[in-house]
Parts: sequence; C-alpha cells; structure tokens
Amino acid sequence: MNEKKQAGEYAAGFIKDGMTIGLGTGSTVYYALAKIGEFIEQGMTLKGVATSTATARIANSMHIPLIDLNDTEKIDLTIDGADEIDPKFNGIKGGGGALLREKLVANASDKIIWVAGHTKLVQKLGKFPLPVEVLSFGSNHTGRLLEKEHLHPILRKTKTGETFYTDSGNVIYDLHLDEIAEPGKLAERLKQFTGVVEHGLFLAHPNVVITGTGGSVVIREN
Ligand code: A5P
Repeated sequence: MNEKKQAGEYAAGFIKDGMTIGLGTGSTVYYALAKIGEFIEQGMTLKGVATSTATARIANSMHIPLIDLNDTEKIDLTIDGADEIDPKFNGIKGGGGALLREKLVANASDKIIWVAGHTKLVQKLGKFPLPVEVLSFGSNHTGRLLEKEHLHPILRKTKTGETFYTDSGNVIYDLHLDEIAEPGKLAERLKQFTGVVEHGLFLAHPNVVITGTGGSVVIREN
C-alpha cells in the first residue's frame, strides 16, 4: 500500500469549494495536488498558493489556479509534508529545501494538515538532519559559526555536487545533531545567527497529522 498516496488523498477530503489552499512541497503532497486537480476538473473553485517552484510546476500541469501569497489576506487550509514529526506535533521540514516559503505559507494559514508515511513519526526529533536556510552572502562564515557552536553543519549539495540554492537564492546547511533534546531552545538559538534566514523546526505547527499506516490512515489532532 502506498502510504504517501493514502495520506495525501485523505487530506484532500478536507477541502471545500471556494477555499484558498496552501500547497506544500514533496512527494506526499503530490497526491493531494492530484486530487485538487480532479476537484477543479469537477467544477470546484479553488485557488492555490505554492510553497516552491517545484509545486507551482506540478500545480500548473494540473490546472490548479495559483495566486501569490501577497494576493490573499489568509489561506484557509495548507496541506504539507514533513520529514519528522514528534508526539507534540513538532516537526522537521525542509528536506526538499522549501522550508522558508513553507513556514511563511503556514503562518498565514487558518488550518494546517501534515501528510506523511508512518515512518516519519518519531519520539525525538533530530535523526533527520535539520535544514537551516542561510543567506548566501557570507554563508561560509555563517557555516563556520554554526560549526563553532557544535551544530555539525554540512552544506547541502545537489546530486551533481553543486551548491544547492533554494527558491529564494539562499543556501542550506543541514545540521547533523542526531537528537534534538529541546527543539524550542534550539529554534531560539538558531534565530540569533545573523546569517540564518530560517530553520526547519516547525513547533506545534499542524492542526492535524495524517499518516498512511499499512492499509489505513491515522489522524491525529493537535
Ligand atoms: C520540503 O522542503 C519539505 O519540507 C517536505 O515537506 C518534506 O521533505 C516532505 O517530503 P516528502 O513528502 O517527499 O517526504
């Protein structure tokens, strides 16, 4: 059973006609996007705000009308993926590099649903390296500061070995921490670095987490 498909499609069931939807990024959200495309074909009036150029491309191919985040006062519902989710609804996001726009869209949303396969559920965050988006100006220096603070940063590269740039032209340092004892404290600490634009810790963020688990979905409400 494809757990990502189960979770993504189930989340699309929360969508109502007329809504403005925040469109997350990743392979699980893809299945929600496909459903939204179907809803539009069936005559629903929906608008999407994409969290990445990759998502915008998929949304365009599915004829989902897109608007800019600045063109709406609020988003009714955002469906997004996650890389790790703990029992307190804290998560790590940014595996796909879209954390900054994902957080901005989430902050503008009335309701947030995360969709994931069940392996993303963890007791403690941190096995998944924590993405930190860093301004490219002086990024080597910011990286060294992160290193000095024992945050074990590794500059993200593309598959072909080039520096990875986000949609906003920044770089990403993935922090190899293994376990994040206090996500709130780490989030505050990371915000102290001038060159850090945003980090991938999303604290108590989603209202609902939908995980595909074997043959069924599990829904957790925050
Ligand atoms: C994108 O930057 C991430 O925050 C994604 O939401 C996350 O990586 C989940 O992706 P998958 O659904 O492909 O695992």
